[in-house]
Amino acid sequence: MAVGNSPIPRAGQEEGLYLPRALNPTVLIRAGIAWGRNDVDEGRHRRRDRTGWACVAALATLGALGCGVPSSGDAARGKEIFPACAACHGSRGEGNVELQAPNIAGLPRWYIEGQLRQFLGGHRGTVPADSAGRRMSVAAQVLTQSGDENGDVASVALYVSRLPAQRPAPTLPPGDATRGKVEYQACASCHGADGKGKYDVPPVVAQADWYLLAQLRKYREAWRGTNANDLQASRMQAVVIPLDDQAMEDVVAYIETLR
Ligand code: HEC
Ligand code: HEC
Repeated sequence: MAVGNSPIPRAGQEEGLYLPRALNPTVLIRAGIAWGRNDVDEGRHRRRDRTGWACVAALATLGALGCGVPSSGDAARGKEIFPACAACHGSRGEGNVELQAPNIAGLPRWYIEGQLRQFLGGHRGTVPADSAGRRMSVAAQVLTQSGDENGDVASVALYVSRLPAQRPAPTLPPGDATRGKVEYQACASCHGADGKGKYDVPPVVAQADWYLLAQLRKYREAWRGTNANDLQASRMQAVVIPLDDQAMEDVVAYIETLR
């Protein structure tokens, strides 16, 4: 698969014009079809449109509450779906830096589920320059295929959260962890002194260094976290604005020491 940009977007390297809007799910569904699924007839299209809008409405409510609430899921169904994820995330969910696909194994269920709903709702992964985010948005459309989008999102999230946690190997040249420790003071109140997160904040220790850095840059570049329907992500926005590239590399180096 051709990968459009380098794993770690540099500030100003790619021009990203962000248009905060709740994308009509039809646009995303069509994107999914353009990606290679052309077996969808008009009748199913209409049914999915309604599902999509119901999901957007539910998300608006969840967003207002500020956190994702996991639904019930079926791990056996999640296992059936998982090969569609393993294509990029790896057979153990360990991630693939070449495809810019992160480690997802063992992440909290509420977080996996919440992020899948953000991708499906058009709140994450819509910025044109964000090729990795857009690939995941398109990939998430597989969860709309069965006609039980809510059930499938919950099921795959449950299954992935139960996969044994992976410990991604470092890929970046070492930053200054001592300076990073000072930067991390600003993160600890939410992500915890141990980086393991808490009930509504994801862990940072679970994630590969290249992905942490890429996401910090995405928040700063407003590729992630500026959508009005994604209040959880907007909590990161304010945090990263003052951080330059060096500070981000240092804080990631410190997070590496917490593993
Ligand atoms: C075409 C490749 C591809 C496929 C297939 C794919 N993903 Fe992804 N996924 C990605 C990429 C690339 C990202 C990183 C997006 C970004 O940088 O914002 C991602 C991000 C994610 C995230 C966010 C993780 C985080 O810590 O923020 C989750 C959760 C996720 N994927 C779950 C899944 C699940 C579940 C499936 C199967 C239904 C799946 N993905 C299928 C490429 C893929
Ligand atoms: C006010 C609370 C808060 C603070 C402070 C905070 N974070 Fe976060 N962070 C969050 C929340 C909530 C999310 C999930 C956002 C989302 O849904 O996109 C998150 C997400 C992240 C992610 C993306 C994780 C993933 O798997 O995609 C990274 C990386 C991250 N934070 C790093 C940091 C670092 C480094 C700092 C300190 C410089 C920091 N955060 C400070 C609340 C916070």
